[in-house]
Amino acid sequence: MHIVHIVGARPNFMKAAPVIATLADHEGIEQSLVHTGQHYDANMSDIFFQQLGLPEPEANLNVGSGSHAIQTAQIMIRCEEFLLARRPDIVLVYGDVNSTVAAALVCAKLLIRVGHVEAGLRSFDRTMPEEINRLLTDQMADVLFTPSEDGNTNLAHEGIASDKIYLVGNVMVDTLVRLLPLAPENIQRTRFGIEGAYGLVTLHRPSNVDHPTLLEHIFAALVEISQSIPIIFPVHPRTRQYLKTCSEQHRKSNIHLVEPLGYLDFLALQRQAMLVITDSGGIQEETTFLGIPCLTVRKNTERPVTVTIGTNVLVGQDMEHLKGAVDSILSGRPKTGAIPPLWDGKASERIAEVLVRLG
Ligand code: UD1
Repeated sequence: MHIVHIVGARPNFMKAAPVIATLADHEGIEQSLVHTGQHYDANMSDIFFQQLGLPEPEANLNVGSGSHAIQTAQIMIRCEEFLLARRPDIVLVYGDVNSTVAAALVCAKLLIRVGHVEAGLRSFDRTMPEEINRLLTDQMADVLFTPSEDGNTNLAHEGIASDKIYLVGNVMVDTLVRLLPLAPENIQRTRFGIEGAYGLVTLHRPSNVDHPTLLEHIFAALVEISQSIPIIFPVHPRTRQYLKTCSEQHRKSNIHLVEPLGYLDFLALQRQAMLVITDSGGIQEETTFLGIPCLTVRKNTERPVTVTIGTNVLVGQDMEHLKGAVDSILSGRPKTGAIPPLWDGKASERIAEVLVRLG
């Protein structure tokens, strides 16, 4: 059986790595990895390949950045060429980025089976580009691997046949469990000179960072928070373009703005943070697994178990709510949580079992 894995953006890499490694232990499976090149900076891509032990891609499609239409179309054109030449038995796509939906659409038209890892998640907010990617990918997929029960419920409501759906758990947690022992100790002190408690911030959603006035408003709240607790803020390239307008405020703050970090350094910072403020999807899950309080600057989440079971609190874009939630944590009243079922480091084994059985 020949399986092609298609990845393109940072959050894909930690999801594909454990699936590829687990399948490598099975006889009779040939695997090819394709990188679409949606993310191309060394600190958004190469460092993840090294740290996660991903194999060298058989092809890099080098699509780079562009509007949604340009990026999606380029991925489709170049994926089609690769898949026509290789004709695999199945293609696996991951998560909800443009590379995911573009590759799935090509497979659907070429009548190549496609499996979606991290299927069924829904924010029910169609203004999010990822929600469109999730909905369409799941409609086209032949095999759907869900991380949590809510995924199965959502897919059932959308009329997806239950015999295509497999509840396998969270593959990101597989990577986290494997690499946690390799995350450096005390990086906040050695790299950032911070002794004691600190907060960790990431922001990159277009709904937060593409509007300079809103970003300034959020940044002003972070400046205030940083008077109580130092903040480390690795800045996504998307956010960097817009953050320039906040430089005056930054000078008065205790915020350490840094380049995007590699997987192990970021994991180390999450593990020891007093609190995390984010709009990322994956970080909501990682903090839940690690038991670290997470305040999510979004009105909704496609990962509701991080709120119902885990440590996540949605604060929306209401900065008074954010500051109040930070105060609760600093005064010793954080939201506590548990680890959702099947987030046990074995999701990729369950995926491999299904793929081997389906042949
Ligand atoms: C993409 C995903 C998002 C995911 C995020 C993780 C989509 C629609 N969005 O968003 O779901 O949470 O990745 O990072 O697929 N850029 C660089 N270097 C890079 C990559 C991007 O400088 O290596 C800059 C470019 O200016 C680019 C911008 O970042 O225009 C946005 O990149 P893009 O891939 O369009 O989306 P992300 O915001 O990264």
